[in-house]
Amino acid sequence: MIYSRIAGTGSHLPAKIVTNHDLEKIMDTNDQWIRERTGIHERRVVSDGETTLSMSAEAGRKALEAAGVAPEEIDLLVVGTTTPDLIFPSTACLLQKELGLRDIGAMDVNAACSGFLYALSVADKFIRCGDSRKVLVIGAETLTKLLNWNKRETAVLFGDGAGAVVLEASEEAGVLSTHIHADGAYADLLTTHVGVSRGFDGIEENEGRPEIVMRGNEVFKVAVRTLGRIVKETLGANNLDKSELDWLIPHQANYRIITATARMLDMSMDQVVVTVDRHGNTSAASVPLALDEAVRDGRVKRGDMLLLEAFGGGFTWGSALIRY
Ligand code: ACO
Repeated sequence: MIYSRIAGTGSHLPAKIVTNHDLEKIMDTNDQWIRERTGIHERRVVSDGETTLSMSAEAGRKALEAAGVAPEEIDLLVVGTTTPDLIFPSTACLLQKELGLRDIGAMDVNAACSGFLYALSVADKFIRCGDSRKVLVIGAETLTKLLNWNKRETAVLFGDGAGAVVLEASEEAGVLSTHIHADGAYADLLTTHVGVSRGFDGIEENEGRPEIVMRGNEVFKVAVRTLGRIVKETLGANNLDKSELDWLIPHQANYRIITATARMLDMSMDQVVVTVDRHGNTSAASVPLALDEAVRDGRVKRGDMLLLEAFGGGFTWGSALIRY
């Protein structure tokens, strides 16, 4: 039996920090509202030509180095992003060149905030079926490029960044299972309303740029309910009791959603990796950013049982149970 395991992790954040107090100066909001409703204190924002691709390259290089894997050993590249540099070529395709990978398969996966869990799931399947031995998986976003800085209901929530893992084939189980879902009936609750084929109607408001439109309160309720379902599904599929989990590594959209999921799992917040306070919601980048932080600071150790989960636009949601 072939499994995949995490051989190394990496991440990258833009240097520019935008605090809640900075936002107070440009919109009708305040630090207290943002902290109490979301848990966010500050976020990172791209500048000076930084893009999803450039951050992916930084995160990818660090993951390769941590794994002790040379670029030419990688035999598949999967990038979870909803904010690619270009419509095409894909970010993965541009990254293949940037990292000096062989002419391997390279693809973007768009599942909004669940993008990394989707990408990880694809990579895990390629390894399990024997097609790939070493896969670079990235979650990277420049969600701030989709913000209207005049709309406080969304502008305060998001940040930019990238995270990466190298998955490699192993006889020992690392990734125990992955689970992905989608329900397009909720498309209008969290969307950009614009695209290529449907056209660019209705975006005059944001200087002609697309913007995130979200019915936050309704998203919140479905997110809490759905994450409850997927963590049960993940534990059930592995006959695992919640007491056997060492770490919850959740998507970082909102501290209240994170604590609700931790409560369902009877986990103390000491067992939950939280970055939302410093990163905001970095969409597909949030889970690998949190994982890399906890690996590098020594919280997550080899042998620990990790539950990763995410929920996002679509709606999409996903999870992975991993013996690190
Ligand atoms: N500053 C100050 N006041 C604000 C702000 C702000 N930035 N934004 C909204 N308000 C006001 C509203 O106008 C409203 O005022 P009113 O009561 O006078 O009408 C009040 O605050 C409450 O607004 P709500 O939207 O009801 O606030 P809520 O408690 O729901 O918090 C939030 C909003 C933080 C967006 C929350 O609903 C949430 O986190 N939702 C889930 C987001 C999520 O998980 N998204 C999925 C992933 S994203 C992706 O896939 C790309």
